Amino acid sequence: MNVFIPTEIRAHERRVAATPETVKKMVTAGFTVTVQAGCGERAYVADSEYVTAGAVVVNDAKAGYEGAQVVLKINAPQALDKGHEVDYLQKDSILICALVPNAELDLIGHLVTRQVSCFSTNLIPRITIAQKMDTLSSQANIAGYKAVIKAADHIGKYFPLLMTAAGTIHPSRVVVLGAGVAGLQAIATARRLGAQVEAFDVRAAVKEQVESLGAKFIEVEPDEDMEDAGGYAKQASAAYLERQRQEISRRVAASDIAITTALVPGRKAPILITTEMVKSMRNGSVIVDLAVEQGGNCELTEPGIHVKEGVTIIGDPNIASDVSVHASQVFARNLWNFMDHIRKDGSLEIDLEEPITDGSLLTHEGQVRHQPTRELIEQGGKA
Ligand code: NAI
Repeated sequence: MNVFIPTEIRAHERRVAATPETVKKMVTAGFTVTVQAGCGERAYVADSEYVTAGAVVVNDAKAGYEGAQVVLKINAPQALDKGHEVDYLQKDSILICALVPNAELDLIGHLVTRQVSCFSTNLIPRITIAQKMDTLSSQANIAGYKAVIKAADHIGKYFPLLMTAAGTIHPSRVVVLGAGVAGLQAIATARRLGAQVEAFDVRAAVKEQVESLGAKFIEVEPDEDMEDAGGYAKQASAAYLERQRQEISRRVAASDIAITTALVPGRKAPILITTEMVKSMRNGSVIVDLAVEQGGNCELTEPGIHVKEGVTIIGDPNIASDVSVHASQVFARNLWNFMDHIRKDGSLEIDLEEPITDGSLLTHEGQVRHQPTRELIEQGGKA
């Protein structure tokens, strides 16, 4: 099969879906690989490095798509000045990318009409053998790290405790809301910089992980069962949310930096920091809201960087892209690991009995295969 890697066209995107390392693996396995000229430029990969790895470089995206049975992308296909990237995909070709199913229903319809078999890496089951294919985790890890670096850049303070000739500097206080993959990396990074860190998550199971990173876990009396069978958070009760709101209010008011990462799959992000809480923070405090794409965990978050009520609120919907070298490296490895799992020699095989294929194959043979997405489309797109 011929695999094509186009240049990402999403605004401000710096990542690329294959690196010379993964191209080499594909070629060794028997695939032929074509890349669009300049696709790796913003991740500092030169076309010549792809050629050395065994790829052919084409100048024009359309030409690349035309010869491709498999297309690897970071982002879901996007609208072009004229037309749409989906229109370039060949009938019965395979697209592998990080499409957000419940947010891109029109696009999914378009893929169905084009008869594209689309695997969304966001749907790869979170089972142990699939961890190496999990782009959600690899990118969340980077986002958690970079969120702290951005906060450090915007706060007018040191992070660590310092004893100087001019007196003692108290450490910055960081509160992390949501201690999943991104939150745990944010905690680790803020601790490495010397901040005092507190963290909260609805899943009580993460308390130990938070504490093992040297942070304090904020305790809120839990509802009976707050985690689903897949390890994700469930919707919380109203009483729990009120207890949580009061506790978080106190901690946010005392913090210099809040980093929010709380998500519930398939739903709008929960509001954890209200306008009142922002007002209670000291002037110059910073909030980095990693849930911005799902509406944000802070009521005042908007995409971009805005100062509101004296607080700098950062809502960067694609923060991992800023760490383009390593974000590309791990994303590309995730995609190759997925290909390697479903390939037979130099071809990808769609075996619907195979659990990772079954879980992540969003559209196939003119149908939406992912049941929740199909139901959402049947209900007219309303969750
Ligand atoms: P996520 O990005 O969906 O959510 C981030 C965090 O927000 C989660 O920890 C969630 O509990 C928390 N959250 C949701 N609502 C909240 C609220 N109202 N207040 C505070 N926190 C709230 O989740 P992520 O980070 O992608 O993964 C969550 C967990 O799933 C991981 O920590 C891990 O235990 C598990 N996982 C398992 C994998 C596997 O292969 N076995 C791979 C990746 C994750």
